[in-house]
Amino acid sequence: MIPDLSVELCGVRLANPLVLASGILGTEAALMERVVRCGAGAVTAKSCGPEPRPGHRNPTVLHWGPGLINAVGLANPGVDEAIPLLQETAVRLKPFGTPLIASIFARSADEFGYMAARVAEAHPDLIEINLSCPNVASEMGRPFSLDPAATAAATRAAVNATDIPILVKLSPNVTDLVAIAQAAVEAGGRGLTLINSLGPGMVIDIESGAPILSNRVGGVSGPAIRPIAVRCVYDVTRALNVPVIGVGGVMDGRDAIEMVMAGATAVGIGSAVYWHGPEVFARICREMSDFMSAHHHRSLDEIRGIAHDR
Ligand code: FUM
Repeated sequence: MIPDLSVELCGVRLANPLVLASGILGTEAALMERVVRCGAGAVTAKSCGPEPRPGHRNPTVLHWGPGLINAVGLANPGVDEAIPLLQETAVRLKPFGTPLIASIFARSADEFGYMAARVAEAHPDLIEINLSCPNVASEMGRPFSLDPAATAAATRAAVNATDIPILVKLSPNVTDLVAIAQAAVEAGGRGLTLINSLGPGMVIDIESGAPILSNRVGGVSGPAIRPIAVRCVYDVTRALNVPVIGVGGVMDGRDAIEMVMAGATAVGIGSAVYWHGPEVFARICREMSDFMSAHHHRSLDEIRGIAHDR
């Protein structure tokens, strides 16, 4: 029997649990469609904000070995331009039945309300509020996700602005992630995306002695942080009954299965697309399916969160 990889995320059905993580391939509708043709179960657009932002100067992304480090600086065309791009993406994805997740950032809780209402005009299936970018602290201050009260205020504002379910993207760079996740859920967040990149970190070119990224520091992602992502998903889903997109260094089917066993409902794919291209979605699905067949699992429900009890 072919295992059933479909999942339900905040009332939205995905044919498989693999979600393109935000920021990996921008917001262009044609690229989003390509990812869907390559087998993604859902796609997340790059976070957009109220105004256009050029982001940081290059270099903004570096492959440093067992992971990536990035400081893109929330480059985006601004919400007025992002809405038609999201609308076009939604139209292109409709024949495939693949959900679109819009992603937003803002500088204040009220602005999260404004942004949620604006992107809702494009009718995405879900809206992810990015409270956790580690790369813009010098301009925007501490990320909301470092504090339960700030997380709750931003989440509540977004939830009150639209009927579209809100996913809250949180940071691993905290001492009590469960408390912050709980604040997001109590404020009406329907699901969580765990985790944004770790750090910030720094990579120095030892020939010149200079940090390589133009921003000097950036968020660390990729296989090097997968055990941290798995632990965050495990802790939060063990403590709270909330659907989670588990993101962080998933490169193959076994990594994706591990994330589901930690408690994830869906699995974000980011660095693997950077390394292997969008074709990686079909391969990871196939590898998940092969593992499940070999272990006689009929659906992901049978293995979700099993690490909690073992
Ligand atoms: O620099 C960036 O645009 C990264 C965003 C994020 O990690 O949320």
